[in-house]
Amino acid sequence: MPKRALRIAATADLHYGKHSRGTLHEAFAEISSSADLLLLCGDLTDYGLPDEAEALVADIRAAVRIPMLAVLGNHDFESGQPELVSKVLEDAGVNVLNGEAIEIAGVGFAGISGFGGGFGRRMLNAWGEPLIKQFVQESISHAVRLEQALAKLQTERRIVVLHYSPIRATLQGEDPEIFAFLGSSRLEEPINRFRASAVFHGHAHNGILDGATSTGIPVYNVSAPALHKTGKPYRIVEL
Ligand SMILES: [Fe+2]
Ligand SMILES: [Fe+2]
Repeated sequence: MPKRALRIAATADLHYGKHSRGTLHEAFAEISSSADLLLLCGDLTDYGLPDEAEALVADIRAAVRIPMLAVLGNHDFESGQPELVSKVLEDAGVNVLNGEAIEIAGVGFAGISGFGGGFGRRMLNAWGEPLIKQFVQESISHAVRLEQALAKLQTERRIVVLHYSPIRATLQGEDPEIFAFLGSSRLEEPINRFRASAVFHGHAHNGILDGATSTGIPVYNVSAPALHKTGKPYRIVEL
């Protein structure tokens, strides 16, 4: 059976505040009429408040009629209520992936926020103080859960949805001092091993839009501030 291309709209770092309602109404309407699916790659709220998520879902409800998948970003954790933020999104029909896998239109999606830790040979290792070990453990745990989600997918096409970046390339333009807080190579391992079709991430507001893993899997930074130069706060990729 011939594969039909799936038009995937993706965005991230919307940072909705309580008074942001209306900001993306138009963009959401465009997305809904020109894509088959919408990915929201984290930092959907500014302070992780359910009221902020409500402002966002008001715009989503008014305009989006296609399936939606999301992962949370670090900002969505800020107020210690990620479950409530997720619930507001879920109630509006957004599937929030936290280490889960889901199949839509024959394409598999594995999603998780991810975490920092750095890249390549300079990646932080679990060595020394307990707090450093805990930080690295969190990074490893996200990679393991991503791997488990990917392992569940039987589909030919598998898309990875993250907030943090699995590669260094899309972070070019950010201050090198913060690279280690923007992502981790640990996330890249399962992506390569399971031969994912593509990766979408946010978090890198000042990064560049396109990169690839060491095995050539395309990586798209869909952070809305980074997409600003394209004239749209979202990107549509056909896969
Ligand atoms: Fe952000
Ligand atoms: Fe972020």
